[in-house]
Amino acid sequence: MRAPRAARPLALLLLLLQPLQFEFLRIHLGKSEEETEEFEDYLEELLKLGPARPLTKDAFRRRTIIDPARPLTDPEYCTAEMKMKNVHDKFRCVREHFFLQVVYEELQKLCKNIFVPCKNGVKKCHRSRQLIEGVYCNLTRGARMSDCEYKSSYRQGYVLITCRWQDDIQEIIPAYVNDIMTLDKHVKDGSIFYSELEWPF
Ligand SMILES: *[C@@H]1O[C@H](CO)[C@@H](O)[C@H](O)[C@H]1NC(C)=O
Repeated sequence: MRAPRAARPLALLLLLLQPLQFEFLRIHLGKSEEETEEFEDYLEELLKLGPARPLTKDAFRRRTIIDPARPLTDPEYCTAEMKMKNVHDKFRCVREHFFLQVVYEELQKLCKNIFVPCKNGVKKCHRSRQLIEGVYCNLTRGARMSDCEYKSSYRQGYVLITCRWQDDIQEIIPAYVNDIMTLDKHVKDGSIFYSELEWPF
């Protein structure tokens, strides 16, 4: 995002805000921790002038993990939840996204599993050993945030994720959901045999 010239000094000022100020916002504006976090994400999005930075642990978690409010088979799932959870790329619609019904810590543990190939063939994914339920969202219309419309597909399968190191918290964390491989697709590919061989059970 290119900030207009006049916005730069404001951006610089905001950059100087320390976590204490966010705490101040939370207390004095009566915002919940989650709202404050969203506001921080929002500011970060606004201020991000360079290349996209990977999501933080909290941002990934908020965007990906399902709250048990809406049925996963709802055809409007994605269009509604992408808005609710503010999933976008500098306010542009993201082409695809996965929501997962899993405890975050379980997902994080997958980062310790050995590498398996991702959907695109890159050998850098980690795979769940259990079936995980989720929703696959595929953009059908729109370019900018709040106009984004998605096709929602309920999926149950083995989840492929990539992980990365987050320096400030010194943890390996899930970075990106690559796929939910449904069993039929998996068997059809013949890849199940390949993966079984690779897996240390
Ligand atoms: C997502 O949508 C695109 C374009 O409409 C389509 O080509 C693609 O096959 C879809 N992907 C999946 C996994 O359904």
